Amino acid sequence: MNTKAHILVTGGAGFIGSHTVDLLMHAGYRVSVLDNLSTGYLTNIEQWIDHPRFNFVDADITTDLTAAFAGMVRRFGRIERIAHFAAQTAVPISMDDPVGDIQTNLAGTARILEYARHNKVAKVFFASSSAVYDDDAPVPVSEESRARPTSPYGIDKLAAEFYLDYYARLYGLTFTALRFMNVFGPRQDPKSWYSGVISIFLERAVTGQPITIFDDGNQTRDFVYVTDVAEAVVRALLSDAGNNAIINIGTGVEVTINALTHTILELAGSASPVRHEPARAGDIRRSVTTMDRAVALLNFNPRVELREGLHATLAWVPQEKTKPVAGSGAAA
Ligand code: NAD
Ligand code: UD1
Repeated sequence: MNTKAHILVTGGAGFIGSHTVDLLMHAGYRVSVLDNLSTGYLTNIEQWIDHPRFNFVDADITTDLTAAFAGMVRRFGRIERIAHFAAQTAVPISMDDPVGDIQTNLAGTARILEYARHNKVAKVFFASSSAVYDDDAPVPVSEESRARPTSPYGIDKLAAEFYLDYYARLYGLTFTALRFMNVFGPRQDPKSWYSGVISIFLERAVTGQPITIFDDGNQTRDFVYVTDVAEAVVRALLSDAGNNAIINIGTGVEVTINALTHTILELAGSASPVRHEPARAGDIRRSVTTMDRAVALLNFNPRVELREGLHATLAWVPQEKTKPVAGSGAAA
């Protein structure tokens, strides 16, 4: 593919989006990031802000994007491919505000797809989620397992996948949807109790604050490191790999929240007390993926193991001992 091509990354100031931006910029592409900075940070992309191949657009995917798209095209020419990450990402927030979740995660995605359809975008990558599965799904879960979400967030991700498939069949759109398991690594924001568990626990371990485990801690997750995820995204986005496919992205390794806590406390050399609170509504009990489709279609082979990834993330967590985690410890 022409490395001068113009790629749009929605949500590119966020955690996974910004790592994807790094790979695309290093590969020589022209990159536009569209982000409303609701949960993303300019610091995540500060190394690119003044780069001549980089363009940041502060815009909201729930609004009319005509002017935003026009500005990007004026700057770098037609948009060749789109990586669509922008979303409301917290399962509990979607339960409190299902309408808001539809507006951002479903209507926002439809807006991106409409642009892609009318402007002959060659391929759209979509950040889907393992939250489309429920507790009745087999363990490990495969893409053929029935998707039956337990939250509006999962419903909207699944509905967005149906839109992708519909646009492919009706308008010839090419897409790949990756259903991420639990992604972790540097730049994952630990600031609210809705944040990813690893980002919260690392910050709390480092600052010596109590760690709250919801439920008995024997619930499991499949934690995949962010640079491995970004590589899978870029492979799907820039090639024909995984065309019009839905693919789980994880490691195939099932980890209990208790074991995770133990490893984090050990690596951080922390004596943070651990307490338990009741299970969070909508929480899935066990989550781990099969790897077959990711290997077959994307040659996906995650390189960073949990312990190594935690170590690298720990090096990124601010080491000051006083910073509180806003609202942390509240029960869902
Ligand atoms: P993140 O919150 O760091 O990134 C989301 C980005 O989207 C942020 O930069 C935010 O400012 C932006 N955004 C949110 N609403 C927007 C709007 N209305 N208009 C424009 N920009 C908006 O989260 P993340 O963990 O990097 O998640 C990226 C994507 O991956 C999301 O679609 C999420 O649902 C999906 N995902 C994440 C995980 C995970 O474990 N982190 C797992 C499965 C799927
Ligand atoms: C996460 C992602 C979601 C993604 C999904 C894919 C975030 C904020 N959410 O949801 O976008 O689609 O993975 O699998 O990144 N826990 C505690 N204590 C805490 C926080 C969490 O015990 O302080 C537990 C939770 O109860 C849960 C587990 O840790 O059992 C993981 O929680 P969390 O990191 O919020 O992720 P998911 O809900 O799995």
